[in-house]
Order: sequence, then structure tokens, then C-alpha cells
Amino acid sequence: MFSTLVLILCLTFPVFLLFFFQYRTTFKSPPFPPGPRGLPIVGNLLQLDSSSLHIQLWQLSKKYGPLFSLQLGLRQAIVVSSPKVAQEVMKDHDLECCERPKLLAQQKLSYNGLDMLFSPYNRYWREIRKICVMHIFSSKRVSCLSSIRHSEVKQMIQNISSHASTSEVTNLNQVLVSLSSTVICRIALGRRYEEEGTEMFHRLFKECEALMGTLFVSDYIPFMGWVDKLRGLHARLERNFKDMDKFYQEVIDEHTDSDNKTAEEDLVDVLLQLKKDNSLSMDLTNDSIKAVLMNILVGATDTTAVTSVWVMTSLLKHPRVMKKVQEEIRSLSGKKPFLEEDDVQKFPYLQAVIKETLRLHLPAPLLVPRESSKKYMIDGYEIPAKTIIYVNAWAIHRDPEAWEDAEEFKPERFLNSTIDHRGQDFCFIPFGAGRKICPGMHMAFAALDVILANLLYSFDWALPDGMKSEDIDTEVLPGLTMHKKNPLCVLAKCQM
Ligand code: HEM
Repeated sequence: MFSTLVLILCLTFPVFLLFFFQYRTTFKSPPFPPGPRGLPIVGNLLQLDSSSLHIQLWQLSKKYGPLFSLQLGLRQAIVVSSPKVAQEVMKDHDLECCERPKLLAQQKLSYNGLDMLFSPYNRYWREIRKICVMHIFSSKRVSCLSSIRHSEVKQMIQNISSHASTSEVTNLNQVLVSLSSTVICRIALGRRYEEEGTEMFHRLFKECEALMGTLFVSDYIPFMGWVDKLRGLHARLERNFKDMDKFYQEVIDEHTDSDNKTAEEDLVDVLLQLKKDNSLSMDLTNDSIKAVLMNILVGATDTTAVTSVWVMTSLLKHPRVMKKVQEEIRSLSGKKPFLEEDDVQKFPYLQAVIKETLRLHLPAPLLVPRESSKKYMIDGYEIPAKTIIYVNAWAIHRDPEAWEDAEEFKPERFLNSTIDHRGQDFCFIPFGAGRKICPGMHMAFAALDVILANLLYSFDWALPDGMKSEDIDTEVLPGLTMHKKNPLCVLAKCQM
């Protein structure tokens, strides 16, 4: 009897095992991408270093692969670090991945997502983006604003010439940040903010950006929100929101007051006119206008300034490239006193230098984080809804499978190459890709082209006494945009 039982068991056990494993593989949920082990409750939050997060995440990708996960408090996140996975996220699954995580400071400062950057992906976003793309970021509008760029770049060249005539060192960080913010203020608000005004403007926007990049514990561990209160973050946020709101309201009041009308139409005029026309399929409220203004001012000022500083830094570190780009500009320019936007189209090597700089020193190394709206599969992994998605463009731009000598500054790689920044080549995505791609690309290039062409045309550049090109550092400041930490101080020598 016993031996019959053993025999039956021996015969049925393998069949049972087979069913068991088949059941597991059929019904077990697919895995979540691997990632570093975290602590209870806080997960990996305490292991991450916000000052060089993109580099830390790049190093983790070498251990865990091009798609790995993080536990940020109670929130799950994935990090994408290869062109192939970036394409899956931003093209094949763009629709499921184009929400933004709802973070406290970003929501507050964008009037609860009435802007483009932090709005949920919905009908409102589609409408506001369509309005802005048609009326604010169109190539027609960008070229209408060229006279502002020209007059401010001429002013900058004059200021640097006066430094050059007395052999005074020029702090290019300071000059280029001030130029970019003056250009965007004139374009968007129709006025410059001089002296005390400039200081107030910079203070407000610096604080606004700092708050948008600050980690609020309540975003990741909601029941510990009291920690943010103890750190005084709520009070800081409330104060900055009120100051910014007052600033925008004054701008709107100035524009609606007919005694203040100026001849040049600025972007606030355009938005107020659209509101008045009532021809839109949605209500454009004052809050929407304020939120869009925040996007334009925050989106444009730092990115343009930072990119110009990194181009000049890269050229001073690579004298061969500096010589070649200056020869191109000077040989094709004749004897013009100033290069206008139409002239700049003739400089393919300058375009290659700007692209190569955006490859190695892109202003937003982790782009702008996204969030999944529903469950989907990538590379055999299941990504649940509400997962935060970081695309590490900094790592992708250094992927050795996509780029030869990836760490080297070689603008030649972009000559006779079809790779460009418009979101079709996933190995080069400084402006993002898919539905959420930066709508300000055209405006950014219009400014970068004219600033850099004239800086390189008008002056020869040298380092202060005793400094060699290899001494120029590429350290960055912590924050949303990758600013050069130590100012680039150089000597300009007039060309003509
Ligand atoms: C070198 C210059 C610039 C760079 C590298 C840059 C980069 C980016 C990136 C990476 C994104 C996120 C894309 C994504 O989520 O896939 C973005 C979004 C955005 N950028 Fe730019 N940007 C630049 C200049 C500008 C300028 C000049 C403006 C405005 C005048 C601007 C306005 C915006 C806006 C409004 C968004 C939000 C789009 C949305 O979520 O619908 N940017 N930018």
C-alpha cells in the first residue's frame, strides 16, 4: 500500500512541478526594472546627491543597465540611459509617458499647472501649447523679434570693447546672463529691468528656480510633510509665489494701461490681445498668462546664457576649434561691422560647435521629469501608472555605442551628419522629444547664433596671465540648469 502511494507520488510530482512553474510564469506579474536597494520608507532618497545627480545616475546605469529603478520615498521612479530605451519611452510610449509628476513647488508656481511645463497632459495643455506654438514660438514671431536681439548684442559688444581697450578681464558668465535676461525681458515684457530692477528680477527668478528644484519631503512621503514646514519651505514658497504674482500683475496692468503703450509689440501684448479677441476655444485667464510668462522667463533666460557660456568655455579649452570657427566666420563675413541673423546661416562649423556643446554640456541633463499615466511594458519590464521617469540625456549623449570618442569635444562629428536636435535622433536630445519637446528651440537658436557669431567675430580671446587652457574647469553648480560653477573670466582683444 505504502509503496503504491510512493509510486503514485513519484509519477505525479514532476507533473505537479510542471503545472506549478507554468502557473507562475503565466500569472506572475512581469518584473519591475532592477535598481539599488533602498532603506525602509525613504527608499533611495538619502543616497542621491542633487549636486551631480545626472553623473550619479549615469554611474548607477553602468551597474543596473540602461533602464533601472529607484525608490523615492513612497514613489517609484525609472531612469533611462540609452538612446534605444529613450526612443521607447519618448516615441513608442510617448502617450503613456507624457504626464509630469505633480510636485508641490512646481504646481504652486505654475498656478496649479496652468502653464505648459507642469500642466497635466489634457485638453487644456493641448490648447495652451497650440496657442503658444502658433503665436509665441512661430518662426515668424521669432524673426519679428530680431531687432531686439540685435540691439542688445550690439550693446554687449560695445561693453566688452571698452573692457578690451583697457585690458580689463571680462566675466563672461555675468555678461551673458545679463544679456539673456535683458533680451527675454524685452521680448516678453517689453522693457528692460535696469539697476535695482535687474537685481529684484534676478532675485525673484533665482528663488523661483531654486524652489522648483528643491526636494519637498511631502512630494515623496506625504505623511511626513511636517518636515517641510519645519524647514520653512512652505513659508518660502508662499512668499515667492506672492512676489512673483505681484510682479506679473504689474506687468499686465502696465500693458492694459493705454497711456503706457509702446510701438513694439511684446509677448504680453500678444497674449492679452488673444484674451481680448475671445476667438480661442478656451478661456485665457490672467492666471494662464502669468503661468505662461513664468515658462518663457524661466525656460529662456538660463538655458540661453548657460549654453553660450559653455560654448565659449569649450572653445577656450580647445584652441584648434576656436581658430577654425573664427576663420570660418571671418572669411565669410566680409568687412561688416556686425553680423545679423541672416549672415549666421552661412556658418556650418559654428552650428556644429553649438550642437557639440549641447551634446556635452546640455542645460537640462535630466530633461524635465515625466510620469506614466498608465501601465505599460518596456524591454520585458512592467512600468506601473504614476511612475516618475527620468531620461538621463547627459548619459545618452555620452553613450559609446552611439558616439565615437564620446567624451571628446569634436564639432566635426556634426558636419555632413543628419543627426539633429529636433527630437528624431534619440542619441541627441538636448531639447527633449515627443509631444513635450521644447517649443522654444527656434528662439533659443536665434539668440545663440547671433550672440556667439558676434563674440567670435569681434574679438580674439585670451586667458588671464598665467592661465592655460587646461586650467579652465568644467565644474557645475547644483540646480535645475547646469550653470558653470566658476565664472569664465577672459581677456577680449578687439579684432577691427
Ligand atoms: C538652449 C536652450 C534650451 C534648451 C536646451 C531647452 C530644453 C528644454 C527641455 C529639455 C524641455 C523638456 C522637454 C521634454 O520634456 O521632453 C523644455 C521644455 C520647454 N521649454 Fe525649453 N529649452 C531651451 C530654450 C527654451 C526657450 C528659449 C524657451 C522659451 C522662450 C523655452 C521654453 C520651454 C517650454 C515652455 C517648455 C515646456 C514644454 C511642454 O512641457 O509642453 N525653452 N526645454
